[in-house]
Amino acid sequence: MNLTDSLQRPLRDLRISVTDRCNFRCRYCMPAEIFGADYQFLPREEILRFGEIEALTRIFVEMGVRKVRLTGGEPLLRRDLDVLVQKLASIDGVEDIAMTTNASLLARKAEKLKAAGLHRVTVSLDALDDAVFGKMNGVGAKAQKVVDGIDAALTAGLGVKVNAVVQKGVNEADLLPLARFAAERGIPIRYIEYMDTGNSNGWKHDQVIPSHKVLEMLREEFDLVSVDDAKFGETAKRYHVKGIEGFEVGFISSVSKPFCSECNRIRLSAQGHLYTCLFASDGYDIKTPMREGLSVDELRERLVQLWGKRDDRYSELRSEGMAPIAKKEMSYLGG
Ligand code: GTP
Ligand code: 5AD
Ligand code: SF4
Ligand code: SF4
Repeated sequence: MNLTDSLQRPLRDLRISVTDRCNFRCRYCMPAEIFGADYQFLPREEILRFGEIEALTRIFVEMGVRKVRLTGGEPLLRRDLDVLVQKLASIDGVEDIAMTTNASLLARKAEKLKAAGLHRVTVSLDALDDAVFGKMNGVGAKAQKVVDGIDAALTAGLGVKVNAVVQKGVNEADLLPLARFAAERGIPIRYIEYMDTGNSNGWKHDQVIPSHKVLEMLREEFDLVSVDDAKFGETAKRYHVKGIEGFEVGFISSVSKPFCSECNRIRLSAQGHLYTCLFASDGYDIKTPMREGLSVDELRERLVQLWGKRDDRYSELRSEGMAPIAKKEMSYLGG
């Protein structure tokens, strides 16, 4: 099916949030004062079952999806996640199954996930210094726990990338050590500009360090050479260093250089609502009709229509000073 949205963008990348819960409280994502003990997470019956996720994924693959990413919240909090991975891996046409995780629970699960068919993990790690990292993750979690998760994933044969959110006045001093860490292990690291996701992180433009500044900082130590084989829809601008196999530095610059014009991603929330933009205020409830017994053909028709009329380009609108205000939280709709 050669499907494009109203801005001529194809659909390739399905991001599935399997839970809205997380064991971290990163300030830029789930600040503890808002996501406290009284916070109402989704009740169990509201959350999509593995069979429902599989059925929807099969339709999305017919519509063009080739990459599937499991996200949360923290996806490893979902019980028996390997069973879902196995189901997704059995779908013809799925070329890539990845997971975004904080890796705190990865060490004991990496092998099972690899055996189930997971290809790679993207691990969020913002600092190696425990004082900084503990503050950023909001629960005092130690960096070593995450490092253990990364090493277990590498041992299990999973591909590993590191994602670090860059926040002014918070982790500038940690950016070079993180690059050294990735270089030692021969894995890619990507620096993400702090974004105005959701409504609770109190984002201000002056807390963003534009990627070009981070690039300058890293160039003092690494001889970074631009990689020019970017694929359509890639989020990161990448650089490599001669002689360090596997190591790569990428920049995800959604604030200073929006990449909406190539955005081929759709997000399925744990609740079964579809979001055609990370910054959307409203989702499209596909769970209710599915549970009411709508046929596969009718479900597909609805999804095709949803993608066909899509015109989201939030980050570009932000640059033009015209961004809408009400947004869903990223922990809910999936990173
Ligand atoms: P690869 O498949 O490994 O290239 O990963 P990816 O490019 O899909 O990126 P990943 O899932 O690692 O996303 C990294 C981060 O980039 C996310 O956690 C978000 O912070 C940001 N990001 C990803 N997709 C989008 C998007 O569509 N819009 C915006 N604004 N940011 C995004
Ligand atoms: N800005 C940039 N990146 C963010 N992430 C979560 N919230 C934000 C934000 N406000 C990143 C996390 C993780 C992924 C799920 O999204 O660090 O890598
Ligand atoms: Fe949890 Fe990831 Fe959000 Fe941090 S960024 S609170 S680890 S979902
Ligand atoms: Fe895609 Fe929305 Fe991000 Fe733009 S802001 S790249 S449309 S998810």
